[in-house]
Amino acid sequence: SDTSIPKPTAHLSVDSRAAPRQHASHKGSFGDVAVLGGEGLSRRGLSMTGAAWLAALAALHAGAGRVMLALLDAQQSGPQSIAPWPEIMLRQPSAQDWRSATVVCGCGGGQAVADWLPQLLTQAPRLVLDADGLNAVAADPALARELAARAMRRQATVLTPHPLEAARLLQTSAAQIQSHRLQACLELAQKFQCTTLLKGSGTVIASPSSQPWINSSGNARLATGGTGDVLAGLIGALWAQGLTAEQASVQAAFRHGLVAEQWPADRPFSASALAMRLGH
Ligand code: APR
Ligand code: MG
Repeated sequence: SDTSIPKPTAHLSVDSRAAPRQHASHKGSFGDVAVLGGEGLSRRGLSMTGAAWLAALAALHAGAGRVMLALLDAQQSGPQSIAPWPEIMLRQPSAQDWRSATVVCGCGGGQAVADWLPQLLTQAPRLVLDADGLNAVAADPALARELAARAMRRQATVLTPHPLEAARLLQTSAAQIQSHRLQACLELAQKFQCTTLLKGSGTVIASPSSQPWINSSGNARLATGGTGDVLAGLIGALWAQGLTAEQASVQAAFRHGLVAEQWPADRPFSASALAMRLGH
């Protein structure tokens, strides 16, 4: 009804397969992804390290050259000498990593993620902000201003809210977001000058100065804990491999949904199983 809202582009023709790899390539050709998240014990007493692991696992299986993981509970649990997933490099949070890598921040972040955001928002050239990273921005106007200032410094950001996270960012209710999904996503993209991906059935992707997209793939298999963390890691990996922020978001949403659609009926579905099939 509102003619000021641009028409979305359906993208049934998005190529969701992994691109062929140049023969004479090396791990540096496929970019670095640095995941920052996974608070050991949140204020609610929940352990959230699995969320950060899922994002890292997804980035690895989606073809990133190197994947670093900085767990925010490292101070509490001490350095781990054996990584449960040997390809994933466990690190202390480090400006060195996020100045050169594509950063995925907030998956299972808890309150601790807010402490790192001032540095990340000013220093990371490419940043995917999810879950508690978004909640921290919603709760602190200074962080919101810092986020909006990134575009002026040519630092690119992808926001990946689910409806409740979007509601917090726009100071409204999840029901309001759900009844105006396209408009809400466009509003977030404008407000923060970021590519914004609003999750849920019919994921919307909007950027400040192009037509929005509505994803056509996916199903209710994805309605299980951790699939959002997998999506954040997948976006990071495609972005690190050379797509733009918008293209990485569009392609990631499509591929994420397609893997769920093509899931064999006799195979149990879980977020980690999804992450491990992203490269297929
Ligand atoms: N159809 C298609 N896609 C769906 C459907 C559906 N019915 N249900 C869910 N999805 C997709 C979403 O589009 C999104 O990509 O699954 C993913 C779910 O992501 P999240 O909502 O972030 O869920 P999850 O990763 O489980 O995160 C839950 O993270 O954001 C925090 O506080 C939140 O504790 C919560 C946790
Ligand atoms: Mg989530």
